[in-house]
Amino acid sequence: MSPPPIATREIAREERFNDVWSQQLDVVFADVAPYYDRANNVASLGLWNWFLSQFMSTIPIHPGERVLDVCAGTNAVGIALLAREPSLDVHAMDRSAEMQAVGQERARARGFHIHSTIGDVHELPFPDNHFDVVTLQFASRHLRIKRVASEILRVLKPGGRFHHCDMLRPANPAVEKMYYAYLRFCLSFTGFVFRSGPVALNCKKYFINALEMFYSADELSLLLEEIGYRDVSYKTIFAGMIGMHRAVKPTGS
Ligand SMILES: C[S@@+](CC[C@H](N)C(=O)[O-])C[C@H]1O[C@@H](n2cnc3c(N)ncnc32)[C@H](O)[C@@H]1O
Repeated sequence: MSPPPIATREIAREERFNDVWSQQLDVVFADVAPYYDRANNVASLGLWNWFLSQFMSTIPIHPGERVLDVCAGTNAVGIALLAREPSLDVHAMDRSAEMQAVGQERARARGFHIHSTIGDVHELPFPDNHFDVVTLQFASRHLRIKRVASEILRVLKPGGRFHHCDMLRPANPAVEKMYYAYLRFCLSFTGFVFRSGPVALNCKKYFINALEMFYSADELSLLLEEIGYRDVSYKTIFAGMIGMHRAVKPTGS
């Protein structure tokens, strides 16, 4: 299936997925929270931590910087950043109290403190020009990404960096087909092994459809530039299945 043109894609995504985003995702992540990290490790054939290390390698970080991880889930990104640089002031925001409860426990077990905010990231409850770095990993397909990326731009300091990592729509149709077939199998397999609840099982189709309607790496770069980011660059792994973008807030803004 070809996605709608990029100019109208956000409207099409919202029309198609708003019900899932607003009514079902919280139930899914409340269900998934206790086994989220294990399930991802199984689904990625043990590569979950390697994906994270690839993302980390694209994020330069300096002592004492203030970082916000948006849609932080179980705090994988915040913990990995603190392991590299314990002097960071790390904030996490997510709508799922259950995912954050797991994330807070994981951070405490490593001796780290992460400030947690529970809420919808389409409105970030932080002042303008506040963070040196904002990260967003594996959640954009569930968001009105233009809106969230604009909010991130607002809360970044001039010269601050936005680092994004997600499954993207591969530009090559043959790769795209194989990718969806594999994901379909994975979602069924992990749903069975981890005994997912009915709402999570019902969302299996949504997870593929949301990816089909999402952006390729080049399209996401254009979207970020359109919003006002500069120096947008990316690297992809696995033939464009996962992309890691870096974008900077202009110093004159
Ligand atoms: C697939 S998980 C990713 C978690 C984490 N970033 C990671 O890399 O493991 C997606 C997360 O996005 C959160 N999320 C989805 N929509 C959200 C929204 N509108 N506002 C805040 N969090 C949201 C979910 O609660 C979930 O924790």
